[in-house]
Amino acid sequence: MIPAARPVIGAQERAAVDRVLASGLLAQGPEVAAFEAEFSSVVADRICVAVNSGTSALHLALLAAGIGPGDEVIVPSFTFAATANAVALTGAVPVFADIEPRHFCLDPAAVEAAIGPRTRAVMPVHLYGHPSDLRRLREICERHDLLLFEDAAQAHAASMDGVPVGAWGIAGSFSFYPTKNMTTGEGGLVATADEGLARKIRLLRNQGQERRYENEIVGLNNRMTDIHAAIGRVQLRQLAGWTADRQANARFFDEYLEGVVTPAVADGAAHVYHQYTIRVVGLDRDEFAAHLAAKGVGTGVYYPIPNHRLPAFARDVDLPETERAALECLSLPVYPSLTEAEREQVATAVNDVAAAGS
Ligand SMILES: Cc1ncc(COP(=O)(O)O)c(C=O)c1O
Repeated sequence: MIPAARPVIGAQERAAVDRVLASGLLAQGPEVAAFEAEFSSVVADRICVAVNSGTSALHLALLAAGIGPGDEVIVPSFTFAATANAVALTGAVPVFADIEPRHFCLDPAAVEAAIGPRTRAVMPVHLYGHPSDLRRLREICERHDLLLFEDAAQAHAASMDGVPVGAWGIAGSFSFYPTKNMTTGEGGLVATADEGLARKIRLLRNQGQERRYENEIVGLNNRMTDIHAAIGRVQLRQLAGWTADRQANARFFDEYLEGVVTPAVADGAAHVYHQYTIRVVGLDRDEFAAHLAAKGVGTGVYYPIPNHRLPAFARDVDLPETERAALECLSLPVYPSLTEAEREQVATAVNDVAAAGS
């Protein structure tokens, strides 16, 4: 079975973990500082603050900017629940806006329509590794005096007009969960150009203290460990090559897939294919996936239930493109360790299932 995701952990990662274990310094220390310095090359030299998960990265960025009770933050519903969770955990209200159908990211027109008197911020998600329409979203935010937070959990090294994601808004948040384009095991990171915001996030991740026992504000323990950072430093060195491999696999699928809708790339966008997500139209998506599984091809459905219909958020909003995507989307294996034989097997299986069903 070709799995839907396959993290690459090699000898270098194991050696890096060994090095940290041998040092006896396991918690946040020099490896985290080095990882932060090195990751800044991915986000146009922004200041980086590493934390224990992508969810924490979103949460602390919002908290540090003062988002809280009484505020609304516009988010997509077609995303992992962490996006809206992070907003809700600050005491603010996530307001769901629809996506645009070609790239699955927030539709700027829908964002503008959702702005109300309590709106303080917009948090687009660069879903599947495709950058959101950052030009228009930033313009809308400037015009309405709103903060732009980027959920870049799935989009390491993606860019729009040559500017990397995570370098557009007040803060960009990344995840290093094992299935992401690079991993630390678990982990996350906030990128920002604002030194004051970075300091606040550093305080929030560490019980509100910069110096031990001199707690300045109320904070959490959301620190990354040196063990995780050491893994991340090795993975980061491979990110560019892995991204190119993902893009090459995507080009192959673009060329050979038939009978399904392949993912579009917006003008100016560099898509990093965290997922290669097709639309299954005119056939039942879940049956399509079951037929692929029978042919040895694993797939993922991200996300079958949009956030606005989850019990955690239940909202009575009309988001037709979100609903359609939730029914039609199917993600194929596209990761860098996919062999040429495997990608041919994936393409043949998709084409055969599509042809049999049409
Ligand atoms: C879009 C999105 N936002 C946020 C997160 C949260 O990241 P983490 O799982 O590292 O907390 C994830 C990933 O899991 C994600 O896909």
